[in-house]
Amino acid sequence: MSRKARERLEHNEKRVERRDKMLHHDRANERATVEEVFDQTTRLVVFSLLNAGTLHEVNGVVSSGKEARVYWGKNKEGKDLAVKIYLTSSAEFKKGILKYIEGDPRFKNVKRDTRSLFTVWAQKEFRNLEEACQAKVNVPKTVAVKSNVLVMEFLGKDGKSAPSLKESPPENPERIYKLLITNLKRLYQKAKLVHGDLSEYNVLMWKGKPMIIDMSQSVSIEHPMAKFMLTRDLNNLNRFFNRLDVNVIPLEELQKQVVGK
Ligand SMILES: Nc1ncnc2c1ncn2[C@@H]1O[C@H](COP(=O)(O)OP(=O)(O)O)[C@@H](O)[C@H]1O
Ligand SMILES: [Mg+2]
Repeated sequence: MSRKARERLEHNEKRVERRDKMLHHDRANERATVEEVFDQTTRLVVFSLLNAGTLHEVNGVVSSGKEARVYWGKNKEGKDLAVKIYLTSSAEFKKGILKYIEGDPRFKNVKRDTRSLFTVWAQKEFRNLEEACQAKVNVPKTVAVKSNVLVMEFLGKDGKSAPSLKESPPENPERIYKLLITNLKRLYQKAKLVHGDLSEYNVLMWKGKPMIIDMSQSVSIEHPMAKFMLTRDLNNLNRFFNRLDVNVIPLEELQKQVVGK
């Protein structure tokens, strides 16, 4: 190899190394997780978001879930962002995801390979969050979606996510229960969506308001599983607030209120 070629190669390697560093949290013990989650394609997607200026930095992992990891990032102006990356190739995930996509007219023509499914899953969450936001449901504002990477408003401070209802049960549960019902009515009647995984884990308390997150599995009210999912969501809601001594609305009545009949 010529000297010039070697220099160019070294220069390139250094550049890649510098970029990679941006993706790594300083703490050594978290480095392994970060490396593991970023396969080559995902790396490229994150780089392109960095290049486009959508993202300015990606910092530590806030959460490692079954199908996705959530990172704390920032934009150029220093505003906090949440970067949710879908990446789990388990057969379980594939089976699960197909169940939701197959009944949804919005996703009639998607390919069935794992990579495409991650992409669909991220697009689906992005769209669901946007539709919810338009219906004035309290959800994190979306910023961008590219392939399996979803960027949204960060709920929390200094890289620490706002606490979930589970972590920090409200002092005024009656009020929060009512607010959530109002949100679920809007979600059903205006956005025409059912959350599908509503629980004390997927509601973050931020600035005194319950914010609903995690909408990848949310479905249109026309979906064959919508009714079942709504009942399960409302059941979870009642179970949680019942334990906090709220005089909850009986399930059937609550369902009528949310559906608007
Ligand atoms: N927009 C956000 N702002 C701050 N933290 C978030 C945000 N979205 C998700 N998180 C954090 O990541 C966790 C997992 O996110 P979630 O969307 O519920 O994915 P999962 O499918 O892994 O449950 C949440 O419990 C929360 O702590
Ligand atoms: Mg969740």
